[in-house]
Amino acid sequence: MNAVPGTSVYGESLRRFAGKEHRRWDPTRSKLGAGMLRTNGDPAALLPQAGSTVLYLGAGHGTSVSHLYDHLCGQSNRLNGRLVCVDLAPRCLRDLTAMATQRPGLVPVLGDARQHGAWGVLVPTKVPWLFQDVAQAGQVDIFLAACQRFLAPGGVGLLSLKAASERWTGEGEAALFNAVAQRLAEAGLTVVETIDLTGYEDHHRLFHVRNGGLNHA
Ligand SMILES: C[S@@+](CC[C@H](N)C(=O)[O-])C[C@H]1O[C@@H](n2cnc3c(N)ncnc32)[C@H](O)[C@@H]1O
Repeated sequence: MNAVPGTSVYGESLRRFAGKEHRRWDPTRSKLGAGMLRTNGDPAALLPQAGSTVLYLGAGHGTSVSHLYDHLCGQSNRLNGRLVCVDLAPRCLRDLTAMATQRPGLVPVLGDARQHGAWGVLVPTKVPWLFQDVAQAGQVDIFLAACQRFLAPGGVGLLSLKAASERWTGEGEAALFNAVAQRLAEAGLTVVETIDLTGYEDHHRLFHVRNGGLNHA
């Protein structure tokens, strides 16, 4: 349901069903949306519980964030969610900040996903859901460090991995994605599913993990 009725965020169409306005979620513009269409499991398992506090790293201009907000917070944040979204590009923050003016509970942060010290105070307790889509080198290290610091035991982590951003000297994309899954597992995360986004986002995988046993020292 559209949390800001009458408003389209990125040109998506609006439709009314049973008296409620909904926004079309374009899977070619949102890896979270693509993952929900491509998962072999329950798409709802990729979403956080409505009303929870979540962390999104690499928020971009807010395309996926806007849909997540509809689900997590609802109109005027009646569900009492909190969506902390971090991006290091000022032009993205400008758009996220404009979105936040109509979306209480949306917390845009101009920051580097690798520099927890600068913004981690905004996430004082561990979160049940963490999404990362930074499309830069070292995506796996950034994700593991974020899970270590912010993901609650049993929480869901989603890593959108762009093959071209990795410095990979092994054989082919499939081997790269296998190596990433292995690293996640070796770090104590349970890899629930590796979702192939080909067709919506070529050369990308969405890794769905559960925090099974990271050391939370
Ligand atoms: C592919 S875009 C994100 C798209 C967005 N997730 C969506 O679905 O609407 C990747 C974003 O990551 C941001 N980014 C790259 N490296 C980052 C870092 N170290 N910390 C925070 N943001 C980063 C970029 O500025 C860019 O906006």
